Parts: sequence; C-alpha cells; structure tokens
Amino acid sequence: MAVRLGDIAPDFTADTTQGSVKFHEWKGNGWAILFSHPKDFTPVCTTELGAAAALKGEFEKRNCKMIGLSVDSVESHRRWEGDIKDVTGNAVNFPMIGDPDKTVANLYDMIHPNASDTMTVRSVFIVGPDNKVKLTLTYPAATGRNFQELLRVLDSLQLTAGFSVATPADWKNGEDVIIVPAVSDDDAKAKFPKGFTAKKPYLRVTPQPNK
Ligand code: BEZ
Repeated sequence: MAVRLGDIAPDFTADTTQGSVKFHEWKGNGWAILFSHPKDFTPVCTTELGAAAALKGEFEKRNCKMIGLSVDSVESHRRWEGDIKDVTGNAVNFPMIGDPDKTVANLYDMIHPNASDTMTVRSVFIVGPDNKVKLTLTYPAATGRNFQELLRVLDSLQLTAGFSVATPADWKNGEDVIIVPAVSDDDAKAKFPKGFTAKKPYLRVTPQPNK
C-alpha cells in the first residue's frame, strides 16, 4: 500500500548506524526526512549521501531530522561511510537504517518491482510535527536527487503550514508568495499587513509573511 500525502507516516523500529530507532519517538515533535537509496557502494548513492550530510546543519535549523535507508545491513553502511567521506569530504552525520529484510522498505512502498525487485528506489518522505506525510518523491536509481531542492521544499512546507499562503513555481525562501484563494480580499488585508498585488483576482502576491 502506497504511503500518500496526509497519511500518518508508518511507525517502525529499525537498526541504524546510530543504534536502534523507533521512528515516531526519534522524530519527536519536529520534522523528519526519510529517504532511501538503492544500494551501498554505488556511485550515485555515494554522492547523494555526501550531499545530504553537507546539508544536515541546514535541516537542523529547520527542526528537521534526517534518516537514510537501504536494504543493505548496518554493517555495510558503516563500511561504506568511509568511502563517502573520502569521495565527498563529508562524514555521514545522520542515522542510516539497515533494512536487509525489507521491513521498512515494504512499509513505505520503496521497492518498485518493475524498476528493481531487490533494491529500493530513491524515495523521499518529509513528515511533519503531526507525524503526517507532507511530501513524497520518487527518483530512479540512475538519477541523483538535489538536496538543496529538498531544503527549498521544506521551507515551503513549513511556511504554508503556518500561513494561508502557497508558493509559486521556482519560489525560494524570501521571495513573494501567493495568498490562497480561500482568503477573501478583506481578510487578506487584515492577515497580510504588508499588502498584496492582485495579478488576477485569483492570483494575489504578498511579501513572505514571516520575513
Ligand atoms: C548508483 O548509485 O550509482 C546506482 C545504484 C543502483 C543502481 C544504479 C546506480
């Protein structure tokens, strides 16, 4: 069963490179990003894990914990971490789940048999403070993810959770945002004291309210 937006992220207990993790307890009241990679000791995955580690501080600033996963063992992850540091200069600084029996991979539908029946695809789940899934992404094995994009998405998710706004195409933190159509013009005047511009009656832009 696929894990969909708005679902409670399935809870699990798993062995990781940083000890046993009970997912909901480990996540606490903050945000979490859970992402799978297909296989240890493979080239794209090595670059991805290094890129993720480089941004851990940025995710932490946003109260978001990171956790990786593949169907390799914790022991394999630990051996691979040396290569990731060698190649990218970044030490893996978040737990990586060892899931050789595919318990978590199956729970989150991370194995897509028509792509590969042995490896996880590149899945991403961002989970909010309420334990609900706020974002899912799926990339194939041959395409590495952009972790700056995941930070950008997290900024949008956190902003739109707190204000009646949406973020336009290619938006970056600090840029103008869209007032959601459910807010009337009169209410928008009160809610957005910096004012707004109506490009169309349904497309009203305002400076980012929390900046
Ligand atoms: C890679 O990380 O380069 C990779 C992993 C599995 C299949 C293909 C590529």
